[in-house]
Amino acid sequence: MTLKFVVMSDLHVMPEGELSMTLDTGQRLEQAVDAVIARHADADFCILAGDLADLGQPAAYERLKTIIARMPIPVHITLGNHDNRPAFLDVFGTEFADTTTGKIDKIIDAKGYRIILLDSSEPGRVDGVLTPTQIDWLREVLAEAMDRPVIVVLHHNANALHIRSDTIAMLEPADFIAALKTHPDIRQIIAGHVHVTSTATWHGLPFTTLAGGHYSVSFNIDQPEAPIRRIEGPGQMALVIGTPDRTTILFDDFIDANATIPFDEK
Ligand SMILES: [Fe+2]
Repeated sequence: MTLKFVVMSDLHVMPEGELSMTLDTGQRLEQAVDAVIARHADADFCILAGDLADLGQPAAYERLKTIIARMPIPVHITLGNHDNRPAFLDVFGTEFADTTTGKIDKIIDAKGYRIILLDSSEPGRVDGVLTPTQIDWLREVLAEAMDRPVIVVLHHNANALHIRSDTIAMLEPADFIAALKTHPDIRQIIAGHVHVTSTATWHGLPFTTLAGGHYSVSFNIDQPEAPIRRIEGPGQMALVIGTPDRTTILFDDFIDANATIPFDEK
């Protein structure tokens, strides 16, 4: 009984015919769905970890809904800083909001694991916020699953990565960490947001970020003022494979591209 699921993040879908940072992000998502159909149709489900619509436009959510209708596996969703919660709920349905937290949070119990989706988006902010209500909810859903391994998926990285975007990571993650530490078997905390692939250990917990579906970024370690490049690839999804004693993440680069995107810093 092996758990297998796909994580996609940072889709940044635009309405049909519109580009984001020179890229047709809707077309890139079509390629991601093609990759799932070709290689991962046996997965239990797919999670979209936020920044679904580049500017939170209703037309972008409509396009997203059309594209993911081709997905051969169930799709679970949470939001990122580019998303607009009311616009998302208008298109996808109010049942996506958790009745306790009011945000797009969810638990999935599958193959002996509990997977927890947390909506770290906060209107008007680029960095991530988990509300006190969400932290209480997290503590409760962890307490229900003390006998099982847990994987958490959310948009914002809680751990700083020594890169420029550390200023827009999760704001004040101490309560999040303290809640996670109440559980004895947190297997992974998976985020997008940074458009960089990384793994880390922090407070004894394992953190991963995936590069996601949009452009990726170069980085300069601990040189936040140094210029970065935005690069057309990879388009990347993560595959999470879970057995009782082992949790593995593999990365599928479904778009291979190395061109630098011309971009003027504002
Ligand atoms: Fe983001």
